[in-house]
Amino acid sequence: MDLSAAFTTLQAKAPFVPELAIVLGSGLGQLAHCPEAKAGVSIPFTEIPGFPKQTVLGHAGQMIFCELEGRKVLLQAGRFHFYEGNPMALCTAPMRLYGRLGVKAVLHTNAAGAVNWNYQVGELMLISDHINLQGTNALIGPNLDPGPRFVDMTEAYDKDLRRQIHAAATAVGQRLQEGVYLAVTGPSFETPAEIRAFRTLGADAVGMSTVPEVIVARHEGMKVAGISCLCNMAAGMLPQPLTHAEVLEAGAAAATRFEALVRRFVKDLSL
Ligand code: HPA
Repeated sequence: MDLSAAFTTLQAKAPFVPELAIVLGSGLGQLAHCPEAKAGVSIPFTEIPGFPKQTVLGHAGQMIFCELEGRKVLLQAGRFHFYEGNPMALCTAPMRLYGRLGVKAVLHTNAAGAVNWNYQVGELMLISDHINLQGTNALIGPNLDPGPRFVDMTEAYDKDLRRQIHAAATAVGQRLQEGVYLAVTGPSFETPAEIRAFRTLGADAVGMSTVPEVIVARHEGMKVAGISCLCNMAAGMLPQPLTHAEVLEAGAAAATRFEALVRRFVKDLSL
């Protein structure tokens, strides 16, 4: 993946350097269609050199530069999943570009399965830390300067941003869980035995994205925060099988709350 060609294009098209990039996962996708986003500058992934012309799901993503709650942000609609067969370099390319553009912080959002018995479908979980069980690491290969070869992950999810997200949740009157996100590759859902094992390992939620991007965002020196929409109880926790449809349905049901939380966080953001 030729990052410099991609960066040259993005830099030429970007109307400003955003303070914050927000990766819109399931449950937050509608933010790409809000009036502020419509009034912004959209750069389709297909216009960025090295990005594929279409995703497996048939819809290419876009980066939207817009003002949200009075703040300059970049909304990333769509992401490259590892399970689609994308190389890690592509899955994490947006983070490389944001880092180079001068973005200071990234908010990652995703859909996840709840592993913690105290969680309920539809709740939001602030990510406190992660466990990478994808069997690979996005930084494998030659080190991309100026990031360090061995990136510290002690506090990958910025403590101050987490405090601000808790404050935003309180301000909008929402319950917010906080826990550990465990990443698998997918695309198969987990077995019940895997979920029991993951719980023993300290996982509170399980999902198929985010972790490679977080690692690369940290390598780029950006601050990171993450919120999971708990779209289903993980495999074996309820008597029925898992379906992608229920994940989408729970994401849609949580969308309004998710958006309200993110808007409040953006409004009061202090970096
Ligand atoms: N497992 C993995 N990824 C997911 C899940 C799950 O149960 N729900 C949403 N994404």
